[in-house]
Amino acid sequence: MPNGLLDIESLSRTEIEALLERARYFQPWQRDKDKRQDLLKGRLMVNLFYEASTRTRISFEIAAKRLGADAISITSSGSSVSKGETLLDTVNTLGAMRPDAIVMRHSASGAPHFLAKQLVEIPIINAGDGQHEHPTQALLDALTILDKRPTLEGLRVAIIGDVLHSRVARSNVHLLSKFGADVVLCGPAPLAPKELASIAAGVSVTHDMKEALRETDIIMMLRVQLERQNEVSFPQVDYYRFYGLRLEHLGLAKQGAIVMHPGPMNRGKEISTEVADSSHSVILSQVENGIAIRMAVLEKVLS
Ligand code: CP
Repeated sequence: MPNGLLDIESLSRTEIEALLERARYFQPWQRDKDKRQDLLKGRLMVNLFYEASTRTRISFEIAAKRLGADAISITSSGSSVSKGETLLDTVNTLGAMRPDAIVMRHSASGAPHFLAKQLVEIPIINAGDGQHEHPTQALLDALTILDKRPTLEGLRVAIIGDVLHSRVARSNVHLLSKFGADVVLCGPAPLAPKELASIAAGVSVTHDMKEALRETDIIMMLRVQLERQNEVSFPQVDYYRFYGLRLEHLGLAKQGAIVMHPGPMNRGKEISTEVADSSHSVILSQVENGIAIRMAVLEKVLS
């Protein structure tokens, strides 16, 4: 990973394991009274977000600060992007201020890869590009699963919802497949087309939520991403009835199955409040682990 972190697909198992191991070292820091060490003192990380974010943007900022680095966040609405500046001009402008890494989120799939080719001296960390990948989300999801299970190998993971438009799903599929998990993608046909099974080894697709949940170890729910759909491909009124996770579904999964959601979640749309707040849910652990993972990634990229 010489130039940053662009996706999970191009990472090796060894690289992923190294990041997870380092994140485990950082996990206890989150609950210490003194949360800061100066491993990255003097380094500058710039967050450049062209799409809304709560978890990713803030946790990258916290991660940088906990490592002693300086962190600046820019959003498209509060910058000269709103005056018509191109992505490349904005990034070249930021590059002239000599940051040590740029963390970016963009609605266009491949935007960070494009910039990484243009700006060879400044590492780019992908914080979510269109419907392509969200690598740090998959890493924090893996860390959260491994807090509860000894290995990813042989786990059955159901990813349910708007899989087609989900960068979270794509990154998770690549990571879980590399570690020998079986992934079942599930959603209405327009949002979970059968072709998605060819993304990686060990992936299957079903449109039947009960089939996806049967004997599953891990349930990952996804938000319907209306912002990435030109037309609504499944009636919203029927969505919760067919694909909303409710308490009665949990009996289909393995005993002790865990429920995940990358957030932001829409209660009563893809997940019920009872499930989201149940003892099965690790949704807030995912958020907490996001800081440890982003510390590991920043340390690797900025050191
Ligand atoms: N999971 C995730 O990417 O959340 P945000 O959009 O709030 O960053």
